Amino acid sequence: MATNITWHEGAVSLTERQSLLGQKGFTIWFTGLSASGKSTLATALEQTLLHSGISAYRLDGDNIRFGLNKNLGFGPDDRTENIRRISEVAKLFADATTIAVTSFISPYRQDRESARQLHEAAGIPFVEVYADAPLEVVEQRDPKGLYKKAKAGEIKEFTGISAPYEAPEKPEIHIKTHEVSVEQGVQQIIDYLVSKELVSADKLVKRA
Ligand code: ADX
Repeated sequence: MATNITWHEGAVSLTERQSLLGQKGFTIWFTGLSASGKSTLATALEQTLLHSGISAYRLDGDNIRFGLNKNLGFGPDDRTENIRRISEVAKLFADATTIAVTSFISPYRQDRESARQLHEAAGIPFVEVYADAPLEVVEQRDPKGLYKKAKAGEIKEFTGISAPYEAPEKPEIHIKTHEVSVEQGVQQIIDYLVSKELVSADKLVKRA
């Protein structure tokens, strides 16, 4: 716990930074079971935004666990710490006027709520996207063979099998990934962002 620290204010406000850079910064927070399509949607969304000249950066659960969060496992406390750190990192990217696109299982409602509150307290929008596919479907997909291993008892505390997943009650966007294509899912997100004036329709039309 650090003591004797003082917040040092910058010379450029959030709104000034956004108007200088010509876009808004915010966080798009994907949540869902492993293999629910979070990372696939996040990757396609990031590509669409970048191709439109809009700065976006993806923070991926598996990838972040190779570096920043390599000391964390999958017990409840470590998952909470995983999400706490990523909430802070996403907020930094968003504050720097980039769209932070996170894809973490983030199974606990309270952890996602804390991430939301952290952003809202700083005046930064937080858009929760539920990548929703039934357990039977993700078990069938099983691209990394993890569900098979979890069911055989080879992986402990595996989300959906031996660890909980608390589905969002009121996500901003709910995508049933077994019913729509990746393109349709991305379009659903883009439509929402335009309707809330988080991204400019002009940029998307001009450069997409
Ligand atoms: S979270 O629960 O803390 O948000 P995170 O998204 O970072 O999880 O990591 C999930 C990824 O780690 C999964 O997609 C899977 O590839 C891998 N993984 C390894 N062990 C587990 C486990 N016990 N439960 C869930 N995912 C696991």
